[in-house]
Amino acid sequence: MKRGPIVAIDGPSGAGKSTVAKQLAERLGYRYIDTGAMYRGIGWLARGKGVPFRACDSLDALLKSASLFFEERNGKARLIVNGTDVTDLIRKPEMGMVASDISAIEPVRRWLSALQRKLGEQGNAVLEGRDMGTVVFPDADHKFFLTASIKERAKRRAEQLGDKGDAVELDTVMEEVSRRDWNDSNRAIAPLRKADDAVEIDTTSMTISEVVERLIREIRAGGGKIEVISQES
Ligand code: DC
Repeated sequence: MKRGPIVAIDGPSGAGKSTVAKQLAERLGYRYIDTGAMYRGIGWLARGKGVPFRACDSLDALLKSASLFFEERNGKARLIVNGTDVTDLIRKPEMGMVASDISAIEPVRRWLSALQRKLGEQGNAVLEGRDMGTVVFPDADHKFFLTASIKERAKRRAEQLGDKGDAVELDTVMEEVSRRDWNDSNRAIAPLRKADDAVEIDTTSMTISEVVERLIREIRAGGGKIEVISQES
């Protein structure tokens, strides 16, 4: 059976991908799949169990008995890992780097990529991450690569963390974002990079709704079967 359309959104941390992808999915009536949350979830699990990230065999064993899924509770997607709701726990400031480190390990990428393909296999989905358009869904119907200046991305991250009650210095966040960029772009497997056929958008001086509108314009211009079901809210 032919699947429904897939929209792949990739880019470095702090480029506004999550908010944009979530709003775009709402406008299209599609499922939103946050693959960064999945890496954070496995990072949380390995750390809690004291499994060293470089020990592939121990990670293999951990993954064999792991369960990870999204569940809707009160209209919000929650991430459940081995029975624990980790949605808020994985947003702690240190969890970005934990996820970035564990995402370089082969068994982890293999396990999560397979799960992501399964989640998106029927289409009608917006998937957001680092390798959606290059590795997980290279045949996605629409591919986007969102970027922004390092300063702007650090500012957005700091605001996000501030909203959650974690006070952080802008310089510290900027350093963390740079380290994560380096980590994610230089790993051997599925490094962060723009797919050749992705539309690149620099969001530095754009608002969230400007980015969403731009994506919708690109999707319409690209043709295919995607229908926008709701107007801007
Ligand atoms: O999008 P995020 O900040 O929640 O992602 C956390 C880390 O997970 C990111 O630094 C790299 C990794 N990641 C990945 O390697 N591949 C993805 N598709 C999504 C995230």
